[in-house]
Amino acid sequence: MPARHIPLLDLQGEYRSIKRMMEESIMKVLASGQYVLGAEVAAFEKEFGFFLKSENVIGVNSGTDALYLALRALGIGAGDEVITTPSTFIATAQAIVRTGARPVFVDVNASDSNINPDLIEKAITPRTKAILPVHLYGFSCEMERIVSIAQKHGLKVVEDCAQAVGGYVQNIRVGTFGDAGCFSFYPTKNLAAYGDGGAVSIKDAKAAEHIRALRGHGSVLRGYYDEFGINSRLDEIQATALRVKLLYLDRWNSMRRRLAAHYNELFAELSEVELFRPAPQTTPVVHLYCIQVEGRDALQEALAESGIITMVHYPVPLHRVGALSSLGYKEGDFPVAERISRRILALPIYPELTFQDQEEIVEEIRTAIKKA
Ligand SMILES: Cc1ncc(COP(=O)(O)O)c(C=O)c1O
Repeated sequence: MPARHIPLLDLQGEYRSIKRMMEESIMKVLASGQYVLGAEVAAFEKEFGFFLKSENVIGVNSGTDALYLALRALGIGAGDEVITTPSTFIATAQAIVRTGARPVFVDVNASDSNINPDLIEKAITPRTKAILPVHLYGFSCEMERIVSIAQKHGLKVVEDCAQAVGGYVQNIRVGTFGDAGCFSFYPTKNLAAYGDGGAVSIKDAKAAEHIRALRGHGSVLRGYYDEFGINSRLDEIQATALRVKLLYLDRWNSMRRRLAAHYNELFAELSEVELFRPAPQTTPVVHLYCIQVEGRDALQEALAESGIITMVHYPVPLHRVGALSSLGYKEGDFPVAERISRRILALPIYPELTFQDQEEIVEEIRTAIKKA
């Protein structure tokens, strides 16, 4: 066992930094006797809406459900196509498939791993109903270009903001450019619950009401069901935790940006390491700090041996995962996404990480690369 241990992220450290406030809030919920879709959820929806500058926010059970419910409420279903990126978590495509629609992939930018707007129009067919950009690693997509393509072709835009809560394009938060924005509060996210959680922000008030019904089995009036929904309720303990953490989110995100800038400086001398960079006029939230290197697997092993934990997001681009093989894509269809998947490595990043930790991490990377 190496003497040093630098985790990929430090959830216990975050908890310690807000322990008193968090415990008081959670104890209040325990004493309240109201545990699901109560006053805390309603307050969180309002406060998160204020944070985003969004009129309609609906708390749900996960980011996956947020995507599915947003797509359904916007009328996407069987026979439709939704244009998205192969460089994302499986949940993005899974939500599309669950509505009955078909994911259509478009390659990504080498610079930030987000969907390449130049390639979107070529993928539009008469069946295309929506574009689903993913703000990967916390980099905001080029939303103005994406929205203008969507408007030109009469398409909906659903943003997957699971990794980018609090990010901006100019001074507008991601999740408010499209028809809907979908958020995950999974424990590793920048705004994280102590379990599963998610939210949809949606422009259309009727669609918002539809999601409120769909998250509770489809019931508009208790006991009456005109269609099937799902069980995707947000609970009060998660909502109160999110309300506390929302107070810190901007500060934590700016600490992440400072750490990313420090990594960038440290890597400037190491030409074997390729860095991502945000699109112009975007403010990332550095959910993950990823580098690209040749010999990624050997580097990951060497780092693990010296107590530094890293992760690969994601080893297989979605057009090559078994679960989506029926879509008929093949190796070589999206060369930029494929190259990234072979070379990507996420390094430790969290507000409690120190500059000294970063210096040690970069030194170990330098040593491993020079030895290889
Ligand atoms: C890009 C992306 N989309 C969707 C999801 C799904 O969110 P959840 O795990 O809350 O269902 C995640 C995260 O897990 C994600 O990273």
